[in-house]
Amino acid sequence: MRRPMVAGNWKMHGSEAANGALLSELELRLQPEWPIDVVVFPPFVYLAEVARRLRGTSIAIGAQDVCAEPGGAFTGEVAATMLKDVGCAQVIVGHSERRRWYHEDDALVARKFGAALSGDLTPVLCIGETLEEREANRTEEVVARQLGAVLAMHGVAAFERAIVAYEPVWAIGTGRNASPEQAQAVHDFVRRRLAEQDARIAAATRILYGGSVKASNAGELFAMPDVDGGLVGGASLVADEFYEICAAAAARH
Ligand code: PGA
Repeated sequence: MRRPMVAGNWKMHGSEAANGALLSELELRLQPEWPIDVVVFPPFVYLAEVARRLRGTSIAIGAQDVCAEPGGAFTGEVAATMLKDVGCAQVIVGHSERRRWYHEDDALVARKFGAALSGDLTPVLCIGETLEEREANRTEEVVARQLGAVLAMHGVAAFERAIVAYEPVWAIGTGRNASPEQAQAVHDFVRRRLAEQDARIAAATRILYGGSVKASNAGELFAMPDVDGGLVGGASLVADEFYEICAAAAARH
């Protein structure tokens, strides 16, 4: 009932040449009839070009971040309406690298989530605990707080058009993914939190897993009942890997 999704977060990687080569391979290999959503998230400067290139294909495009403000004197920032204007459908908010290196707190992430919705973009809300927090048994407390900040500001109805990505910080870029059982436990927890406010919306909300997803573990992760696909970093830059991950998502149901 929830359409699986695979998101490729390119992070600060790529070039016109490298993007072109990657997309050529993906366009050739990904099957448009697969019952999944595939979305790539290039750096800002490549969005317009990649969007033009992907027009008419089954691959959608999103941005990795957005300004919380709708527009104006905010040097260096990019507004949601601009992302929409160049062809974006989605935007990642609250990625752990933004939270960690750029000190984005829950309140700012919640405002960015709202800015995305106001700009007619689907927010992909990233939540997840650090290793220290997991070892202190605080995983549920942390993801509840991160999710709660968005629920408090926008209400559960906002999740009619939002995607959640559970990304344990200790699993991002480390090669050490959460086990399928660990991922499932947190996804189930997140869904139950949403269900406390609206069971129908909770059942329909896609919850992606992110953190060292690769071809060799995608199948077992996506086999979990509440893992609706993946937010993929490193492996999304390698056409073979990304293709296999998409195939695993397509085989989910
Ligand atoms: P990774 O990154 O797949 O390279 O671990 C995932 C992410 O940060 O979205």
